[in-house]
Amino acid sequence: MTLTVATTPIPGQKPGTSGLRKKTRVFMAPHFLENFVQSIFDVVGARGEDGRGKTFVLGGDGRYFNDRAAQVILRMAAANGAARVIVGQGALLSTPAASHLIRLNRTDGGLIMSASHNPGGPDEDFGLKFNMPNGGPAPESVTEAIHRRSAELREYRIVEAPDVDLSRIGRQDLGGMVVDVVDPVADYAALMEDLFDFGAIRALFAGGFRMRMDSMCAVTGPYAREILENRLGAAPGTVVNATPLPDFGGMHPDPNPTWAHALMEEMFGPDAPDFGAASDGDGDRNMVVGRGVYVSPSDSLAVLAANAHLAPGYAAGLRGVARSMPTSMAADRVAQRLGIAAYETPTGWKFFGNLLDDGRATLCGEESFGTGSDHVREKDGLWAVLLWLNILAVRRESVAAILAAHFAEFGRNYYSRHDFEAIESARADAMFAALRAALPGLAGRRIEGLEIGAADDFAYEDPVDGSVSQHQGVRILFTDGARAVFRLSGTGTEGATLRLYVERFAPGPEGLDLDPQAALAPVIRAAHELARIEAFTGRTVPDVVT
Ligand code: G1P
Ligand code: ZN
Repeated sequence: MTLTVATTPIPGQKPGTSGLRKKTRVFMAPHFLENFVQSIFDVVGARGEDGRGKTFVLGGDGRYFNDRAAQVILRMAAANGAARVIVGQGALLSTPAASHLIRLNRTDGGLIMSASHNPGGPDEDFGLKFNMPNGGPAPESVTEAIHRRSAELREYRIVEAPDVDLSRIGRQDLGGMVVDVVDPVADYAALMEDLFDFGAIRALFAGGFRMRMDSMCAVTGPYAREILENRLGAAPGTVVNATPLPDFGGMHPDPNPTWAHALMEEMFGPDAPDFGAASDGDGDRNMVVGRGVYVSPSDSLAVLAANAHLAPGYAAGLRGVARSMPTSMAADRVAQRLGIAAYETPTGWKFFGNLLDDGRATLCGEESFGTGSDHVREKDGLWAVLLWLNILAVRRESVAAILAAHFAEFGRNYYSRHDFEAIESARADAMFAALRAALPGLAGRRIEGLEIGAADDFAYEDPVDGSVSQHQGVRILFTDGARAVFRLSGTGTEGATLRLYVERFAPGPEGLDLDPQAALAPVIRAAHELARIEAFTGRTVPDVVT
């Protein structure tokens, strides 16, 4: 039986580009989730124009409330007239696997329950986002419309029915709607087998190659076990923290040297395996580490671009490489050498969507541990790990040797990001206002032994649809190829987070083996002076350095 439930509009349901993220208790409050879900169905439509029910994909990263939210979404999909929902067993799907299922089944989109790398639990975060039929996150026009709808919503529709048994693979009926519970891993694993040379990787492991994969008690555990241990023959136990837990075992499932410190210690320890990797809550981020060597995400993108042709899925070469503006320019050098296009987009994966859909770019990456390709429309943590493995299997060299050879060939872009968190917003805004006002007079100025060549506030014109995005970060470009970029986080929750990205190019063959912070010291000093970080924010040292 379908119920129409009266509700009152709930303010503050503004979804960002990664969906709506809130404290779990906010989502669990009466009618909150329901209001948001109804707003989504009202905007995207659960029925097509011909009145026929649509098909959606549903799954999440397994965090606290994932299972309950899935039942609500299913009942509401049925009540709104959807014909079919494909849902991962246990309501699990990694974000890239959900993107793949949306595309593979030519569905009308999907609902993904995740707050990415944010901790999970009753007192932590929950999130929900809608992805479009191309498998990518809804564009701003859609999220804005959902937001407007949620502010005027007076009722929602939900079917009264017992829970769907999401532990059982197969077809079930929910108020006339088909629910197909599928293995969350199988189709994704098949896609990976299409893209990568599993035979070569299997031979690598058979030859004694050792790996550690830290799934951080989040969603990639079952994927990594099936692909790495079962299909590729990595030693049992290669994948650790492999069971997705509602609270991620109390971990902060963000794959960077700070939060994946156990992996870092092992990789820099006495009995380090050959290769290490970690992924985040919903499986779209990745970190890769060699024995005794950390691979920065910017360098990872460049190395993957230079070597992707070694994997069957990319043997024909790349159409282009795209990176977010603050990501180091290392990938541009590879693109230039390959004679392919290099794109520089604003921060956020959504800007890659058009380039991928239009066939302009094949690989994309961000400095924030996101790498991916045109195989789905999300970044993809395990994909990056498998591309690295494919390269290692073909080249039969260590990660350190591959990095060293890369720097020798292309030069090295020393790179680091410094985050200053929880700054009073008014102070951060004042700092940016002053910095922007100073931009026109900066070219030609010398500071800390560096000369400023150009300075601007990054604006991006999308080459596919012509849309323009302004104020995407302040760039100071020095004449020797060094760079300092300033922007405010769009995802922080407390006050403002200033991100300072610094980069310096060493052409080689000398000076390719320095400590990055030491190599970058003059650029860091110049950035602090130019933006007067201490004067405006009171801060002298960052809270997080990656
Ligand atoms: C951060 C990252 C950005 C990424 C986004 C979503 O955004 O810097 O690269 O796309 O999270 O994962 P920010 O907080 O910098 O706006
Ligand atoms: Zn994520």
